[in-house]
Amino acid sequence: MCGIIGYVGKNNSAPYIIDGLKKLEYRGYDSAGISILQDEKIVTVRAVGKVAELEKATLIVNPQGNTGIGHTRWATHGKPSEENSHPHWDCTGELVVVHNGIIENYLTLREKLQKLGHTFQSETDTEVIAHLIEENLIHTRAVSNEEQLIKAVQKTNTQIAGAFAIGVMWAHTPGMLVGVKNQSPLVVGLGKEENFLASDVPAFLRHTNRALFLEDGEMVILHAGNVTVLDVKGQEKKVKPTKISWDQKTAEKGGYAHFMIKEIYDQPQALEDTLRTAQTDFAKLLGVDDAALRQLRNIHIIACGTAYHAGLVGKYYLEQLAGIPTSVDLASEYKYRTVPSFEHTLAIAISQSGETADTIGAIKKAKKLGFQTLAICNVLGSTLTRICDGTFFTHCGPEISVASTKAFTSQITAMFALALCLGKANGNTSETDFNKYAKLLTGLPKDMAQTVKMEYDVRHLTRKIYKADRFIFLGRHVNFPIALEGALKLKEVSYRSAEGFAAGEIKHGPISIIDKGTPVFILMPHDDLFEKMLSACQECRARGAQVVSITTQDGVKQAQDVADQVFTVPATGELLQPILNVVPLQFLAYWIAKRLDCDIDQPRNLAKSVTVE
Ligand code: F6R
Repeated sequence: MCGIIGYVGKNNSAPYIIDGLKKLEYRGYDSAGISILQDEKIVTVRAVGKVAELEKATLIVNPQGNTGIGHTRWATHGKPSEENSHPHWDCTGELVVVHNGIIENYLTLREKLQKLGHTFQSETDTEVIAHLIEENLIHTRAVSNEEQLIKAVQKTNTQIAGAFAIGVMWAHTPGMLVGVKNQSPLVVGLGKEENFLASDVPAFLRHTNRALFLEDGEMVILHAGNVTVLDVKGQEKKVKPTKISWDQKTAEKGGYAHFMIKEIYDQPQALEDTLRTAQTDFAKLLGVDDAALRQLRNIHIIACGTAYHAGLVGKYYLEQLAGIPTSVDLASEYKYRTVPSFEHTLAIAISQSGETADTIGAIKKAKKLGFQTLAICNVLGSTLTRICDGTFFTHCGPEISVASTKAFTSQITAMFALALCLGKANGNTSETDFNKYAKLLTGLPKDMAQTVKMEYDVRHLTRKIYKADRFIFLGRHVNFPIALEGALKLKEVSYRSAEGFAAGEIKHGPISIIDKGTPVFILMPHDDLFEKMLSACQECRARGAQVVSITTQDGVKQAQDVADQVFTVPATGELLQPILNVVPLQFLAYWIAKRLDCDIDQPRNLAKSVTVE
């Protein structure tokens, strides 16, 4: 889990690389490094900590050269330290490598290379790549240095196993970079007389919006004036550039103090953009006909973290609107459990990044079992979207904050649209209900715009409760996953202890942890379960809890009798209510973290996309 970038062009590469690394920090930020080819010598600067530390160190060294690579790291093999930071080099110091992913056979390779006389400087799996290329260079005959490097990297590609995106620079091939992709993301940015290699588009978006997405097994050779893609067999391949519609501003904070708060406020627009996709024909997305959609008998939802919570909400939708039995699994569990294989099963993988290793592993298993596969994903060209038969892009824009907010509400919206379409196709949802729900969906961005106005009230409340040791969240039915999500969000960004429960469960154990002053957030829209939630309020209050009720207008009066504080969320349909109900909990997490002076956008120990198992 790391971010890599490479630049080759007419300008001094260091500023481009540092800037790109800043945009990739969401992928990891425990150390960073840069290598610049200066007068046929490689100058490397590395620093522990965030890219800002590397920037300071680079300014002192001031390397000059128009070919360079850089890396921001999230440690997997070896602690965060300068020695373990990338780039890593070979014995000659003339070849440097940056890498995102894991080399599974690195120990065997390392032993072999050590026997051949190679000396290692770090504990990383990455360093074997540099030495292996060095070894292959020795045994490669070619008419030019460039051809020699390409052949050596090609050979190396066949010797390493695992997930990797690699950038390679050699002192003997100035003006050229080589990249290889296998199961980790790698994108090429096509500029004017300059080209980029990166883990993700924001790294070069300031300079170009034309991108080439590479497939697994492909290799790319970059010069300032041209880019060549080689397929798995080493044959040159024409790849059509994709025009990226996100501009740099969209990918930046837009005036907010943190990406997290910006992204909470992005939600009305994000939902609007997701709904635009929702008009898509799902049969077409999956490459099947309507009859095949009608035949679906089972749905398996697979996801991790916040996306898993969206999946839990989706189960209620699919079972109620489409009448299809649906299971929801954590991807890391699905991969290792026995999954009976039934005909007419659809596996849905939900992932903001499309690069989560567990989710990718699980969907590969679903494919092997012969299931139809659909991704609900936010990132164009991501690995997951290439594996699945079809993708519903949430199109909610780049989500930079590690804590997911707008991707979550977009994912639930996508699940609702999918369930509605399936229900219409198989006749489980009547025409009248379809129209009723479609109308509610259309109104959702407006309702969301109303809901984000709650920030001030939530912020005010956090002043009183931010020092509490423990926070509890309760919900039922479609709001139960929102209780889980509220707790996850708070844990992630504020490091406070928080737990979410199904409200009906508290008397079966969890109520014992509620004592005087414990803040308990109760999701209780005025629906069929409202009376039961009033009882939950009373039960908690009787134990001295500070009860905060999140309800809709019709429930305010009764909620006031049983809660210390009542927040009112605009009412939409019962099923869609969770999309709005989560908003006060997102603000809550943000403001508690802010008052505790936490690193909100990059919480400790976390990274935005978890590309390792
Ligand atoms: C929570 C969070 C994580 C991710 C999870 C899955 O705020 O960001 O729990 O939801 O790692 O990531 P994606 O959706 O990219 O597969």
